[in-house]
Amino acid sequence: MLDRPMTASAEHTKETWRRRTFAIISHPDAGKTTLTEKLLLFGGAIQLAGHVKARGERRSTRSDWMAIEQARGISVTSSVMTFEYEGNVFNLLDTPGHSDFSEDTYRTLSAVDAAVMVIDAAKGIESQTRKLFEVCRLRDIPIVTFINKIDREGVDPLALIDEISSSLALDLTPMTWPLGMGSGFQGCLDLHGKRVLLPERDRTTPYGRVVQLDALEDVTALEGLGQLPDVERSVEEMQLALGALPTFDRVAFHEGHLSPVFFGSALRNFCVEELLKALGQSAPGPLARKATHRTIDPNEEAVTGFVFKVQANMNPQHRDRIAFMRLCSGKFRRGMKLFHPRTQKQIAVTAPILFFAQQRQTADEAYPGDIIGIPNHGTIRVGDTFTEGEMMTFEGIPNFAPEILRRVAIEDGMMAKRLNKALADLAEEGVVQVFQPLLGSRTILGVVGELQFEVLASRLNQEYGVTIQYETTPYTMARWIVAEDKDKLEQFISRQRSQVSRDRDGHYVFMAESAFWLNHAEENAPGVKFSATQERG
Ligand code: G4P
Repeated sequence: MLDRPMTASAEHTKETWRRRTFAIISHPDAGKTTLTEKLLLFGGAIQLAGHVKARGERRSTRSDWMAIEQARGISVTSSVMTFEYEGNVFNLLDTPGHSDFSEDTYRTLSAVDAAVMVIDAAKGIESQTRKLFEVCRLRDIPIVTFINKIDREGVDPLALIDEISSSLALDLTPMTWPLGMGSGFQGCLDLHGKRVLLPERDRTTPYGRVVQLDALEDVTALEGLGQLPDVERSVEEMQLALGALPTFDRVAFHEGHLSPVFFGSALRNFCVEELLKALGQSAPGPLARKATHRTIDPNEEAVTGFVFKVQANMNPQHRDRIAFMRLCSGKFRRGMKLFHPRTQKQIAVTAPILFFAQQRQTADEAYPGDIIGIPNHGTIRVGDTFTEGEMMTFEGIPNFAPEILRRVAIEDGMMAKRLNKALADLAEEGVVQVFQPLLGSRTILGVVGELQFEVLASRLNQEYGVTIQYETTPYTMARWIVAEDKDKLEQFISRQRSQVSRDRDGHYVFMAESAFWLNHAEENAPGVKFSATQERG
């Protein structure tokens, strides 16, 4: 292992450890947007709720592909929101909300240190929550659960906890507890602070009134609450839950085995501040990250980071892009020259962007956990690493094998060159994967979800003036193929030449008609490894 200098700077350590970089995962409609707005509101980043959506709407008028996402009520564009609360700096990374974009979402989740899982109290675990949760589990990302909409009729809290716990195989520990739900909703208990949060017309807090209790059970003696059957039942259930469920354990939480649960209402502000406090006090700061040859500690002096997203600027006249880099170590200063190991070139980062809720600001400095936007003209790709000279690559931002494969056809043959350039650009952004078959000249395109093809066609048309059609291929599966013994790989490729393509980095990819034929090929190719993911580079 290389001996790397660690910074002794107390400022660096302090700045690093107060960072909380996280994402919100949820099924559409569970309340992610509302919760995001409220977190920004409590973080002082916006004055009035409603800005998150409003901003999205303004942007979406700028190009047609944004119109697709608007029409479908989904968010293709992920953004970064930075705000401060009680001494912590929060970087909230927005994950695309649609199941089609699991690859993009995966990349965003590769850049966070924790996630908030929002669940609709009436619906429990839904398909998209489960998918996103599985992605978090792959990386053991600590998860805080926010059970939203308790002001509406919902599933009984104990039953909800049971369902989440058994269907995700995750231990849960309650942090707040609802006093009644729906029409019987009377407020929330803050179990650790022994406080009761009460709704009141004459508001003294963002939700209502707070009463400090000596013991949680005392809530039943409060005037106005005492005789209510909903409250009595809630308190009984809370006692059962506290007796049966594990208590909060920081290590288990950080390892991703135990999730603190907040029952609340994003719309009515209940337990949003409690959630924010818990993230600040208990969620992990920036973690060490694995790279080729060694692990990078956030306290190291040299700047390192990786790019988890590349987004075309919204102005179609200019082909400039913004690469979103998560800083992993060192203190970044504006104007720094960073080394780009993939191209072995230095890049001067003269106009980096930090993301605040309301406007973009030029970044003068940034610390591990922060996200920096680097404007570029297509030189930076998703998965790229930046260092101050060291040759290394961060792991864990793979390409995923596409699940839908199509050939691309154009009406106007003169446009072929322009199409190739456009596809290369959009592949760099991660919109599509591009494969060149060893036989024949027709490019094959691969995506993880159908909607990506719509977005691609629309962007090719709008931004590059190229109209394309898709044609089917016989293939439904793609796998990267490698072998330690080069001869074995060569033999396999020469036998299966018509089904082998190269990706844009020149790696070989085998395409099969079905799982059956993939298995068949694997069985007949001992020594050749078929892989559903491919580390970049
Ligand atoms: P999403 O980003 O996860 O898709 O969900 P979003 O926040 O847009 O919320 C979906 C709907 O649920 C919205 O209603 C929102 O107001 C509502 N909602 C969110 N949190 C709560 C809550 O705590 N309690 C209740 N009762 N409702 C909640 P909508 O009518 O679809 O949209 P809007 O017209 O209110 O914006």
